Amino acid sequence: MSQAMSQAMSQPFDLVITGGQVFTPMGLLETDVGVRGGRIAAIGALAGASAAERMAADGLTVLPGVIDTQVHFREPGAEHKEDLATGTAAAALGGVTAIFEMPNTKPLTLTEADLEEKLRRAAGRAHVDHAFFMGGSAANADRLRQLERVPGCCGVKVFMGSSTGDLLVEDDATLATILANGVRRMAVHAEDEARLKERRHLVDGGAPVTMHPEWRDAETALLATKRLVGLARKARRKVHVLHITTAEEMAFLARHKDLITVETTPQHLTLAAPECYERLGTYAQMNPPIRSERHREGLWRAIADGVVDVLGSDHAPHTRAEKDKPYPESPSGMPGVQTLVPLMLDHIAAGRLTLARFVDLMCSGPQRIYDIAGKGRIALGYDADFTIVDLKARRRIENSWIASKCGWTPFDGMTVTGWPIATIVRGHTVMRDDTLLGTPVGQPVRFADCLPA
Ligand code: DOR
Repeated sequence: MSQAMSQAMSQPFDLVITGGQVFTPMGLLETDVGVRGGRIAAIGALAGASAAERMAADGLTVLPGVIDTQVHFREPGAEHKEDLATGTAAAALGGVTAIFEMPNTKPLTLTEADLEEKLRRAAGRAHVDHAFFMGGSAANADRLRQLERVPGCCGVKVFMGSSTGDLLVEDDATLATILANGVRRMAVHAEDEARLKERRHLVDGGAPVTMHPEWRDAETALLATKRLVGLARKARRKVHVLHITTAEEMAFLARHKDLITVETTPQHLTLAAPECYERLGTYAQMNPPIRSERHREGLWRAIADGVVDVLGSDHAPHTRAEKDKPYPESPSGMPGVQTLVPLMLDHIAAGRLTLARFVDLMCSGPQRIYDIAGKGRIALGYDADFTIVDLKARRRIENSWIASKCGWTPFDGMTVTGWPIATIVRGHTVMRDDTLLGTPVGQPVRFADCLPA
């Protein structure tokens, strides 16, 4: 036994996870993990170690905690759709250990006070760790350098095209000012507002929902992504382009990987037009839209080629009553935080993804691009966040399993291979066998550039 290991074993652990296949930096190993004080304290044979709590993970795979960096939890202002308690409960049930929440709430998250209010509301109610995006707008552009580093803030988010809520930066001058004010990687929803306005007549006054990807077409996305990358280069600012939906954007972004990181979503990798609109109607409506099979293939190619850095669920719940309105009055967005892990495990089972790429996209990817402190890998000293999965379990995703207030998922009725069995947040088991455990333990995520002294 190494000196480090015997030292680690000299005191009891809070938790020991035994017998699992553990995704370590050395690869997938059958080994044990010891947790003390919320951090990983030992990786190795720990059968003989004393521990307050033991978890047998035989037959299971122990992954670093999955981080979902794009969710809309609607609090404050639209708690009839979701709140921080229900949204984070859905995360825990889905095997997600940390979330980054979006600023298009009411009020918008535009000031230090707005962000602190979200942190205050999350305290004692959040089941998983959390951070909040600061909205970037003309109103706060000159203060973003300070605002992006408020503790508990994961960075600045900008909407270039109108979606749910009123956060919008449509002109290059404001976008350039925002890009010039701050150093962190900035997250952007790239759809070109001018083209959206120009084409709105296609759906105004009512249209079949199959027109959604015609109105908000591939060119609308590509135009905005190109404008954004040009401005980011001039400003020398790192940018993360959210939910990329077209093959052409992926080909373009592949030429800008020195500066730009890329996200896509499980919905865009799993659903395709027109089938999804015919089957799900407005429940398949989101921004940017689900597109054709050709684009879906382009997204998978970009996953295989390494162009995509991160998957975010873009969890954006709306009630059934809202979604049942006729298109285009129906709001865009679908829930996803709870189905992210099972869907992507199913893609592994189908041979479209490897376990290593899953971890890269949902654990180490978020850590790398947002500079998260102490999360994203199973290594000594890191937070003891684990997503423990059964890669073989065959389960049906059902609306009755969904903890989100909206109570539905576009994947209702889908049988998947692979399921989250336990969610562990800094050593606390917050979900086991589809049951939430204990009182909410979620804490703000820490970032390497603003750690306390
Ligand atoms: O479909 C979407 N819904 N896209 C967004 O950009 C916002 C989101 C929401 O908040 O509903």
